[in-house]
Amino acid sequence: MKQLFISSTFALSVTLLSACGEKTANITPPSNDPILSTLTESAQAGAKDVAVCNSCHNVALDPPKAPPLFGVSNRYKKAFPDKETFVAAVVDFVAHPSMDKVIMKRPAQKMGLMPPMPLPKEQLSNIANYLYEYPFPPPCEHWKIAVKNAEKKGEVDNHIAQDKKKIQRFCQ
Ligand code: HEC
Repeated sequence: MKQLFISSTFALSVTLLSACGEKTANITPPSNDPILSTLTESAQAGAKDVAVCNSCHNVALDPPKAPPLFGVSNRYKKAFPDKETFVAAVVDFVAHPSMDKVIMKRPAQKMGLMPPMPLPKEQLSNIANYLYEYPFPPPCEHWKIAVKNAEKKGEVDNHIAQDKKKIQRFCQ
C-alpha cells in the first residue's frame, strides 16, 4: 500500500513536471504507450525515472542542450551491443561523465560535458535499461532545429547535411 502511494505520488510529480516544464516531455512516454508493457520491469521504472534527464535531452529544446536519446541509445548499442555492458557503460558515464569516456564527440565539443547525475545506482540502472529497450522515434524536431540554427548562422557542414537527409528520410 505504501509502495502504491509512493509510486502514484511520483507519477503525479512527473505529470506536473511535464505540464509546467518544457514544451514536450517526450523522453517520458505517456502512461498509455502500448510499448511500455513490452518492456522489462526495470525499463518500465526507467521510463518514469528518465524525467530527470528531460531538462536537457528533450528533443524540442531550441537551442538544444543535449543529444536526443534516440542517438544516445543507437550509438551506445553500436559500442556495447549486449545489454549488460550497455547498462554498465551508461550508468558509469552518467554518474561520472568524463571526456575520455565520451562516445559522441560532436555534442561534447558543441555543448560541453554533461554534469554528473547523483542518483541512486538502481535508478540509473533502470534508466539505462529503458535506454536499451525503448525504440525511440526519430528526433525530427531536434534535427529541424539544428538545420534552422545552422542555416541562420551560415554554418551548414557535413553533419547538418546529414540531418537534412534524415529529415527527408524519416520525417516527411
Ligand atoms: C544539464 C544537462 C543534462 C542533463 C540533466 C542530462 N544530460 Fe546527458 N548529456 C548532456 C550533454 C550536453 C551531453 C553531450 C556531452 C557529453 O557527452 O557529456 C550529454 C550526453 C549524454 C550521454 C552520451 C555520452 C557519450 O558517451 O557521448 C548519455 C549516455 C547521457 N547524456 C545520459 C543522460 C541521462 C541518462 C541523464 C539523466 C539521468 C542525463 N544524461 C541528463 C546534458 C545533460
